[in-house]
Amino acid sequence: MAELVVALDVAEAEQGIALAQSLQGTAPWVKIGLELFTLGGAGIVAACKSMGFKVFLDLKFYDIPNTVAGAVSAAASMGVDMLTLHTQGGETMCRAARTACQQCATKPLLFGVTVLTSMADGDLPAHKGNLGQLAVSLAQGAERWGLDGVVCSGHEVQRIKQASPNLLCLTPGIRPAGSAVGDQKRVMTPQQAVAAGSDFLVIGRPITRHEHPAQAAQAIMHSMS
Ligand code: C5P
Repeated sequence: MAELVVALDVAEAEQGIALAQSLQGTAPWVKIGLELFTLGGAGIVAACKSMGFKVFLDLKFYDIPNTVAGAVSAAASMGVDMLTLHTQGGETMCRAARTACQQCATKPLLFGVTVLTSMADGDLPAHKGNLGQLAVSLAQGAERWGLDGVVCSGHEVQRIKQASPNLLCLTPGIRPAGSAVGDQKRVMTPQQAVAAGSDFLVIGRPITRHEHPAQAAQAIMHSMS
């Protein structure tokens, strides 16, 4: 059964806390990304954990292996349940992150970003080919390097699961029918992503910009079951 992760992408730390409070008892997961973590740091993680959420820290690490390993240990020490790095950082970086995770008392799930869902063919300067195919081959690397899962668009989930059935798939770029796409390009509805086999659906603006975020989250969860 796929799980909903609500992306708390807001411009003030207090707003992030208030949004999380309004979602208590609905979605099991919240995602703290670059914006909210830059604003609120470890305090935001602690606040969401104390509200009972599982926390996905989505900072998409991409640096030299030693630095990424240190960042993974630091994230794990805050008690996050899931975190991300870029698979395009390569094998040595991903394996260093894996080793750092294994040495932590808490063992967060480690997900590798394949290709951002805001990108379409032609958007990645160094890659002229099909981005879906690139995502599938990066996912195969992620599995070999010991990651728990990958971040990919719903359009790649079936091909990734065929090649790597044990790899978890987390899909952003989810838009309920009729909602604004914004900067996302490779999008799917929640129902389509679940049918494709996605394990986690990350959804931000269709919930956070809704007049009643908890109601929007509930409606999406209902459509996922
Ligand atoms: O508002 P929206 O539903 O587009 O939010 C999607 C969330 O998923 C954002 O927080 C974004 O950073 C994240 N994300 C993404 N594409 C990826 C990885 C993460 O959109 N490949």
